[in-house]
Amino acid sequence: MSSLSIYLLTFALLLQTIYGATLTPLKHFCSSSENFTTTDPYKPNLRQLWGNLYFQTPPDGFGFGSVGQDPYKTYGLALCRGDLEAADCRTCINEATAESLIQCPHNKGAIIWYDHCLFKYNNTDFLGKIDNQNKFYTWSVRNVSDPTIFNQKTRELLSLLAKDASATPKLYAAGELELEKSKKVYGLAQCTRDISASDCSKCLDGIIGELPSCCDGKEGGRVVTGSCNIRYEIYSFVTA
Ligand SMILES: *[C@@H]1O[C@H](CO)[C@@H](O)[C@H](O)[C@H]1NC(C)=O
Ligand SMILES: *[C@@H]1O[C@H](CO)[C@@H](O)[C@H](O)[C@H]1NC(C)=O
Ligand SMILES: *[C@@H]1O[C@H](CO)[C@@H](O)[C@H](O)[C@H]1NC(C)=O
Repeated sequence: MSSLSIYLLTFALLLQTIYGATLTPLKHFCSSSENFTTTDPYKPNLRQLWGNLYFQTPPDGFGFGSVGQDPYKTYGLALCRGDLEAADCRTCINEATAESLIQCPHNKGAIIWYDHCLFKYNNTDFLGKIDNQNKFYTWSVRNVSDPTIFNQKTRELLSLLAKDASATPKLYAAGELELEKSKKVYGLAQCTRDISASDCSKCLDGIIGELPSCCDGKEGGRVVTGSCNIRYEIYSFVTA
């Protein structure tokens, strides 16, 4: 990476620090097992990884890679929601980088999720493997009036989207299903692109199976992991 791009990244991070976060993270986890010090060679590797992800991710919506040599090697990935334009993707990755500095300043690993992106790094090689360990749920406080049919339709939609997502190179699908006259449920399914199509399918089917434990009869819900996520709402939330 050129020194100009390092300069630009540093500048972007500085601006974020001054003006504060504009996007709200949904969730983050810091790896508690290993920390680094300011003189640790891990730190410049991590900085370079962040820079690489910042430049690699927006055009395509996904970036991954590693920097350095063991024992200071770092691995990372970044994924933007499948419908995002490069500019919005870049904003989210920049935000995630700044936020991980604030939330996990000394941790060798971290994962942070937003509506618009996922950002993850670690000192162990997690690339290409399904991550079920990092997981969370969110749900709407509002209940639907007919949970049995609604749950069934939602599951039907998300299962279709899971199939579609694993059959496309982007591992992303969004769509809608009619519930009754003029009422619809909207959904999305997406995987990180370091895993195979069949692992994507496995990951998505797994989290669809967890819907009853978070989102039974709720107007909206998400099951989100480090490798895949699903979301549904009774309003449209992605750009077609
Ligand atoms: C790492 O730092 C966190 C606080 O940031 C601390 O709670 C934790 O004990 C540290 N872990 C090690 C192994 O030093
Ligand atoms: C980083 O790797 C360690 C060891 O495999 C694991 O315990 C930790 O959860 C990972 N951190 C993240 C954020 O995935
Ligand atoms: C939704 O249903 C749950 C469980 O039946 C109940 O505890 C909760 O108060 C309901 N929420 C609203 C907003 O009505």
